[in-house]
Amino acid sequence: MQLQSISGELSLSKSKTLVAWAFQQDKKAVVALKKSGHEEALQLIQDAIDQKRLKAGSKETVFFRACKASAFENLLVVGLGDEKSINEETLRIASAVTVKTLAREKIESAVLLLESFRKLTKSAEAAGRAVAEGALLGNYKFDEFKSKKKEEDQGFKTLFLHLSDKGALQKFEAGVNTGTQMAEATIFTRNLGNTPPNLMTPTILSERAEKACKELKIKFKSLGKKEIKALKMGCFLAVNQGSDEEPRFIVLEYSGAPKTKPPIVLVGKGVTFDTGGISIKPAANMDDMRFDMSGSGAVIGATLALAKLKAKVNVVALAPLTENMPSGKAIKPGDVATSMNGKTVEILNTDAEGRLILADAITYACRNYKPAAILDIATLTGACVVALGNVYGGFFSNNEKLTKTIVETAQQTGEKFWQLPLSEEYADDMKGTYADLSNIGGGKGGGSSQAAAFLAQFVENDIPWAHFDIAGVAYHTGGRIAYNPDKGASGSGVRLLADLAIQLTTKSSS
Ligand code: BES
Ligand code: ZN
Ligand code: ZN
Repeated sequence: MQLQSISGELSLSKSKTLVAWAFQQDKKAVVALKKSGHEEALQLIQDAIDQKRLKAGSKETVFFRACKASAFENLLVVGLGDEKSINEETLRIASAVTVKTLAREKIESAVLLLESFRKLTKSAEAAGRAVAEGALLGNYKFDEFKSKKKEEDQGFKTLFLHLSDKGALQKFEAGVNTGTQMAEATIFTRNLGNTPPNLMTPTILSERAEKACKELKIKFKSLGKKEIKALKMGCFLAVNQGSDEEPRFIVLEYSGAPKTKPPIVLVGKGVTFDTGGISIKPAANMDDMRFDMSGSGAVIGATLALAKLKAKVNVVALAPLTENMPSGKAIKPGDVATSMNGKTVEILNTDAEGRLILADAITYACRNYKPAAILDIATLTGACVVALGNVYGGFFSNNEKLTKTIVETAQQTGEKFWQLPLSEEYADDMKGTYADLSNIGGGKGGGSSQAAAFLAQFVENDIPWAHFDIAGVAYHTGGRIAYNPDKGASGSGVRLLADLAIQLTTKSSS
């Protein structure tokens, strides 16, 4: 889909369809059209409001086909909800609803009036970014494995973004560019997640990441089983034991700042399929466990986004990649593994595998870099889905300053994350009977906090660290979030991690 910013007089030469966004305000209705002098269009909307066909609530749409208002053939009105609560997320959602509705109506191009809205957000740049992200993410389809592509799935083609004020155009366009790069990286991550698990093995995922890195001059390294053994990543290898697919440990390094600047290290869970292992999962919806590599997808996507944007940050992305399978060679409940940092772990449930592979990756981060911060991301616990559903992801941190930056950045990015507790009691739950640690917390509840408390024990030297549990938000979230697909990967975490890397780098130098 093309996004093109335009300014000046509105004309018919661009497209026959006009899009106006409206606030939920009785009688007063649309603001954008008032200034542009499109009285007929305004009247149509006013009539719809008077006849109670339009309230302009969030995500509400009314499409006037062949109405010839203001010489435009078609008019789409998209509701924004209450004017007082407008922010970048409002624009992201309206933008997604706009392209989805137009695609459904088989419209290929439209002019979207934006003048009144850019002033209501933080800056013209922030508005441009939000509009681009919403449109591109909302237009996403994954039909790679359908032999016949549906016509209505081909999506919408060109959206002209109209500002009447020429002066704001440059900043707005810079925002559109940022939003486009962020959305493209998110889409890369969605595609990795949606690809069926037979075609997204650790080896294939590593190759896909390598190819993308080559195009962007990101340093890439992929360690195989021999090298992982040499590093003594015993917990990671234990999880891989039951699989016929070789594990991979991938390392991406993007250097956009001077070498002296310590990197932000991102760590993503990359279980390309989680059967649960010997503690096998129930059959229903087990195919959703293709998404258990979403954390690795997020750290790869965030690194690509930063490189595309030429951000002045140093970022390292680490991802342990493996399947979790049952077999005669697989780990059994009770087996003890020795992690890279020497701590022993008894594996009482082979389905709690994510924390095992992350533990070794966190040790690798601490030992090989002097990270300014470590941010790990994982579809880690079903308990997080119980607590927060598919609206908010959970996060945990050992550092107050980092927590504050996460809360502020998440608000601006529009990715919802809620802080959950990290506390000693949960760490006590994770003590082992026959080894230093156990990989489960003994049915005491608080499964997400117990998992986080387990991971915290692998962070060395009080490095600021945060853990993001995306089990509930990595897939099937579209019913709640308009710019995500109803079914399939959301690309959760890509934009947030990229923004966090920028925020944490600029803050530490100021
Ligand atoms: N990959 C799952 C977590 C998950 C659950 C992700 C639901 C997405 C949706 C993880 O490996 C797992 O199975 N965790 C167990 C841990 C338990 C055995 C302590 C869980 O949450 O049930
Ligand atoms: Zn599992
Ligand atoms: Zn898992």
